[in-house]
Amino acid sequence: MKPVQVTDELEDYMLGLLPKRDAVLTRLEEHAAREGVPIVGPHEGMLLHVLARAANAKRILELGAATGYSGLWLLRGGGAEASLTTIEMDPARAALARSSLAEAGAGLSAEVVEDDVFAALERLPGPFDLVFDDLLNSMPDERAIERLFRAGLERVRSGGLLLADNALRLGEVVRPSGQQARNVATYNRLVAAEPSLVAVIVPLRDGLSVAVKR
Ligand SMILES: C[S@@+](CC[C@H](N)C(=O)[O-])C[C@H]1O[C@@H](n2cnc3c(N)ncnc32)[C@H](O)[C@@H]1O
Repeated sequence: MKPVQVTDELEDYMLGLLPKRDAVLTRLEEHAAREGVPIVGPHEGMLLHVLARAANAKRILELGAATGYSGLWLLRGGGAEASLTTIEMDPARAALARSSLAEAGAGLSAEVVEDDVFAALERLPGPFDLVFDDLLNSMPDERAIERLFRAGLERVRSGGLLLADNALRLGEVVRPSGQQARNVATYNRLVAAEPSLVAVIVPLRDGLSVAVKR
């Protein structure tokens, strides 16, 4: 069977089946559209929520907070006792993430660490039940991608989830020519070759790499 191509019409259909987002998520979606902030959007947000809920993720680490949008989906998926640590180097985005998470009632269970990811990770040894890496498009080269992959992998507990967005890189991973596509293809190869992971790419939006650690 040929896979379904997700047309705009199908996208709208699926969107119509999602629950209505609350005021905070709606405002962050509008802000992202206006300011060009690359957030995961509602479908992938819900997928993150479902995965966090299925894994009963209580300690959640996110690399690349932007405005707190995906973090809020994850945190709500983890439920009442869940906590989120999310890293963002852009001060304005980190501030908006903090205020948005506080407004959504997640102020006490969410920490936005304003720093470069590698500096921040030195202070965050884990373990975490779920690590969501949303920095695949932000690394300069394959060495940085491998460093990011190893840092995430080390911090996921056995049985926990390692997730990464943009695993299909607009489809460019098939024949990667640019640096960003090569970076993402490298990440996917590392995941596939890692004996401690069982993994699949879910082709929703730009592709979510979903891996569980043995
Ligand atoms: C794709 S966006 C995150 C979107 C967010 N996860 C969401 O869906 O709501 C990536 C974010 O990572 C931040 N970033 C890029 N490089 C970084 C680095 N080296 N350390 C920390 N944050 C970084 C960018 O400023 C940007 O806001």
